[in-house]
Amino acid sequence: MSNVVVRLTRRWPEAVEERLRGQCQLVLDDADRPMSRGELVTALQACDVLAATVTDRLDAELLSTPDRRCRLIANFGVGFNHIALDAARKADIRVTNTPGVLTDATADIAMALILSVARRTGEGERLLRSGGWAGWSPTSLLGTQVSGKTLGIVGMGRIGQATARRAAFGFGMKILYHSRTRLSPVEEAVFGATCVPDLGKLLAEADFVSLHCPASPATRQLLNRETLGYMRPHAFVINTARGDVIDEEALADAVRSRRIAGAGLDVYELEPSVHPGLMGLENVVLLPHQGSGSRETREAMGHCAADNIEAFIRGEPLPNPVN
Ligand code: 8YV
Repeated sequence: MSNVVVRLTRRWPEAVEERLRGQCQLVLDDADRPMSRGELVTALQACDVLAATVTDRLDAELLSTPDRRCRLIANFGVGFNHIALDAARKADIRVTNTPGVLTDATADIAMALILSVARRTGEGERLLRSGGWAGWSPTSLLGTQVSGKTLGIVGMGRIGQATARRAAFGFGMKILYHSRTRLSPVEEAVFGATCVPDLGKLLAEADFVSLHCPASPATRQLLNRETLGYMRPHAFVINTARGDVIDEEALADAVRSRRIAGAGLDVYELEPSVHPGLMGLENVVLLPHQGSGSRETREAMGHCAADNIEAFIRGEPLPNPVN
């Protein structure tokens, strides 16, 4: 057992906590709530490894905390836009993430949002639970058919491709994509995907636009008043990436005014707050950041983060460095 102090900012799946307990000095808080700024400063001064999650905003100021002891931030999650990577590098803190293991779970939720918003399942459930369902009728709660429609994927990384696979093979959807990196012709042929270098053209052709790009200065509010304006009135926006990729006010306006047909969202710019303009809209499905939320996946994410922590303890190369 090593003397390395590992601070979990939140509770992790039991099997992973158990694994870490045998390897290091594990510090955790039964309260399992987001840590305050002050608590994060103290943690950076007291631990060698901060095992963080998306609920910890580790900005440049925080990472320049004096008398830091921390040398590794092992993020429980693939997205790391809540961590100031440059500041971490300057502070000599390595950062790792958990790529790969949450691909399927997140693509499943993207597909669930596509189906849910198109077929109005949230509205249906609200109607039934409110006692307002008067029984079946040929014309009530009619939604949009998903099968055979065109899916425009923005960001064709692992999760984008897993969503394309589900949509193409499960629902016979036509796949368009816009991405920093183009797939090889062989990879494109797998889902019959067509690369559309012009984002506006993809937005104008898709029935569903699903966001799978990381949050970065380049993707900040990629969907805004202007770009939402390219979409067709019957089209839907799906977001399982990060809230920052959408101007939420512009999205709320577009849905309210029926400029577009609706949205399915799992992530928000200021989580856990949701833009008030989105809250009252029937044709918006709102999930509380559930993308990777299967028991199997959260455990796999924990083990992936633990692999990085153990490599750090042994002084070996980190399996999933991001800075
Ligand atoms: C995680 C996610 O659960 O991995 C990610 O990037 O968005 C989520 O599914 C979350 O980030 C936990 O830190």
